[in-house]
Amino acid sequence: MTTVNALTPKQLDAGLRTALAKVYLAAYGDEALAESRHDAENFVSSTLSRHARRSGFRMVVSTTAGQVSGYGYGFTGKHGQFWSDWLSSAAPPDIVETWVGNHFELVDIVVDPTHRGQGIAGLLHDHLVTGLPQDRALLATTPDNGAAARLYRGRGWQVLVPEVDGAKALFGLELSGRPA
Ligand SMILES: CC(C)(COP(=O)(O)OP(=O)(O)OC[C@H]1O[C@@H](n2cnc3c(N)ncnc32)[C@H](O)[C@@H]1OP(=O)(O)O)[C@@H](O)C(=O)NCCC(=O)NCCS
Repeated sequence: MTTVNALTPKQLDAGLRTALAKVYLAAYGDEALAESRHDAENFVSSTLSRHARRSGFRMVVSTTAGQVSGYGYGFTGKHGQFWSDWLSSAAPPDIVETWVGNHFELVDIVVDPTHRGQGIAGLLHDHLVTGLPQDRALLATTPDNGAAARLYRGRGWQVLVPEVDGAKALFGLELSGRPA
């Protein structure tokens, strides 16, 4: 049984940060390596803290059998921020004009490997985007047939730029008109 809850930045306390770092480490690193553990710690103490201060920050966390099993978050992307400015130079001008600036920037959806394939990412996604005030959302991920591409393509996201960042594609989702 999995439940998904939205969190405010104030709810990101020490216990929750530890649980999120654990999911990050299991998904992106190797627990045996000090470098991976440092990377996961850096994610919660630096990256996530910085992002949580941005306007439009929204985070959802899934709990399965009493343990944090995944998370997803984003914020309002604006010109002047690193990714929006980088995107403005990397993507075709018509895409930048239409999509970049005041979009919802979906930074990541991550599920602990031991809980994958059970629809948890789908639940996190739907909780994260439902009722967003922005009229567009953007993210970058590999457009292969893996779980991430399946997750997003199946939920209305379209590839805007196939290779915007190495093998990663820029995906966009039109939000206006979606039910709240
Ligand atoms: C991508 C990720 C979040 C998916 O989590 P999950 O809980 O296993 O995904 P779900 O069970 O909700 O499945 C989502 C979709 O992917 C499909 N899928 C799941 N595992 C898959 C796999 N190994 N290969 C291909 N498709 C797969 C599912 O069938 C589902 O498709 P559907 O909506 O058409 O039914 C997870 O693999 C992960 O954390 N990856 C590392 C982080 C990452 O890459 N995040 C996305 C970048 S923004």
